[in-house]
Formats: sequence, C-alpha cells, structure tokens
Amino acid sequence: MIPIAEPYLNGNEKKYVLQCLETNWISSQGDFILRLEEGLAAYHGVKYGVVTSSCTTAIHLALKAFNIGPGDEVICPDLTFIAPANMVVLSGAALVLIDVDPQTLSIDVNKLADKITCKTKAIIVVHQFGHAAPMDEILAIARGHDIKIIEDNAESIGGRYKGRLLGTFGNISCFSFFANKIITSGEGGALLTNDEELADRCRELRDHGMSKIKKYHHINLGYNYRMTNIQAAIGLAQLEQLDTILTTRMEQMCLYYKLLNDIPGISLRRFADWCEPVHWLMTMTIDDYYNRDEFLQFMRCEGVDCRQMINPVHRALHFIDKYDESDYPNSTRISAQSLHLPCSTSLQKNQVEFIVEKVKKYFCC
Ligand SMILES: Cc1ncc(COP(=O)(O)O)c(C=O)c1O
Repeated sequence: MIPIAEPYLNGNEKKYVLQCLETNWISSQGDFILRLEEGLAAYHGVKYGVVTSSCTTAIHLALKAFNIGPGDEVICPDLTFIAPANMVVLSGAALVLIDVDPQTLSIDVNKLADKITCKTKAIIVVHQFGHAAPMDEILAIARGHDIKIIEDNAESIGGRYKGRLLGTFGNISCFSFFANKIITSGEGGALLTNDEELADRCRELRDHGMSKIKKYHHINLGYNYRMTNIQAAIGLAQLEQLDTILTTRMEQMCLYYKLLNDIPGISLRRFADWCEPVHWLMTMTIDDYYNRDEFLQFMRCEGVDCRQMINPVHRALHFIDKYDESDYPNSTRISAQSLHLPCSTSLQKNQVEFIVEKVKKYFCC
C-alpha cells in the first residue's frame, strides 16, 4: 500500500537523537530546543521562536497570551482541522465560524467584515493545504478594529504570500511538526512572534506559568506544553532540510498536475497568482456525480491509501447544534467531494504514475 504520507528522515535526525541519549538531555531542556527555536525564527526572519508540544498547544498559548477568554469572540474558518476551533472554545471565548473561499479554502474575506463585533479579539488565519490566505484584506479588516491575528501555519511552512513567507504576518504564528507535516519532530509545534513580551508570556504559560526569573515562582495559571530535546533534535535536523524538502515536493506537485490534467470528473486546486504554494497534501475534488468515499475504497483496493478531506468544523458533534449549515455552503460542498492523494516527500516518480493510472482507471472507464 502506498501510504498517504510518510516522514522523510534523511538528514541528521539519528545523529542528533543519539546526542540527546548520550548526553542524557532527553527532557524539555537542552541545546536542540534552543537551536530549533532560533533556527525557526531565523528562517522566517522573526525575532522569537517558542517550541511547544504541538501546534494545538501553540494556538492555545497564543490565545491565552492575548488574554482571550469568556466574553470575547474569536473568528476561525469553518474548513480547517479542528484544533484551532477547539482551542478557542477551551480558552472560554465564543467561536465564530466563517465559510471559506472556494479557491484559497481560507476564510472568505467577503464574509469577514460582517462577523466583526466589539467583542472580536482575534482572527485565526489558516493557510489551508499549502495555499496562502489573502493576508492584505484580512490585515486591513483586523487593523481597523485592533484585532489580533493568529496565523495557523501548521500546513504551509515555506509558502509565501506576495513574496513574503507565511508565518510572518500574525502577531503570533503557529506551526505543526506532526509526522504528516512538511517537516516533523514526531509530535511538536512552535510559535513565532516579534513581540518579546508575548514570547516571554508564552514561555511562562508553556511551563506551568512559572516565572522565567525565579524557579517555582508561579505567576500565572499555566500548562505543560513543552517540547522535549529529543523532539527538537529531530525537528532541527528536519529544518536543515526544509528547502530541499520543499523543492522535492514542488516537483512532485508539478508531476501530479501534469498527469492528472484533463481527467473527466476531477478538478485540481488552482492557486491565486499572489500565492507561492507549498505542496503539502495533493488535493483533488470530484464531480457531484461520483461518490467520494466509494472512490477512496477503490483506491485502497488498488494499493493506494488516500484520505477524505477534513470535515467542516460546524459538523463536529459538539458544534453541530450551535451553527447553521446553510451559512457554510462552500466548506460543506468542497469537503464532501474532496480528497487527498499520497504526498510523502520520498514518493517516487513511478509511484505518482502508478497512482494516476489508478485514478484514470476509475474515472476514464
Ligand atoms: C490547520 C491545522 N492546525 C492545527 C493542527 C494541529 O496540529 P498538531 O497535531 O501539531 O497539534 C493541524 C494538524 O493537522 C492543522 O492542519
């Protein structure tokens, strides 16, 4: 079976992990943590990096660092992996979901202004499946209302909006290093910010709300959202290969686009001209005439592990009664008919050809 996504551990991962084991720095202190934080910040040209146990926890830290809680509202796209939406609810704020734009699959800016109220404290911007969100429009709306931007760049590290790296627009931007992401640390995440106070606050909250000056002096209600040195060792080795990984993946995307072109019944994502995408998942949408889940089953029987697209947030059982489906026509329709083909960095040309052959077998018969 060709897997949907495998990590690409071809650099210094083993060497760095062994260094952790040999030096006994296996927990959440150690050199690799600082090196990964500095490396991520330097790569993005941002001042401060804070690594975390996941992107989910990074988003939670961001919300708490902004003092967001009960009585506040936070805006989030309806079509996203559920983590940012759940973190808004856990922060105590009200979750305001907005439908997505059919091209970018990020927040539909035409529907954004209407949802801003005096309670809106933040917008979580998700750069969805490698495509940048329309940052100029979002920032313009936020600026007029003193609203914080939390960029969720879990999926699109290395992508650009109008030439500028994603993850450099938000007051805080968050990243995921889960094993299916462009670079991984097994589990893990990070946040970046140019604001020293925010970075300090996130570090304190990450570590039980402990003062950075005085050990065991707790100045805030905090969490244990730390990354281990072993995870950071893997993450650093991955970061060293990021540009190579991005190039290899882009070649894979071009091959997919060339081979999948003109197959009746499917459509591929087109990218806005201001976006330099990254190839995270290989996404395709199939015509309403076809049954997406039946196609997924067919591909699995042919030895190709494909995945359905994430469900819209409003469909989650704990949200379904709180939102009106008719407000989210794009996310509902696109999610139901879309799926992802395998996209490991290590995927070979002949494997892509094999996968496309199977797609053709289904749609061209
Ligand atoms: C947009 C988005 N945000 C957050 C997350 C959560 O990341 P993590 O698994 O590192 O918590 C994901 C994971 O897929 C994601 O796609």
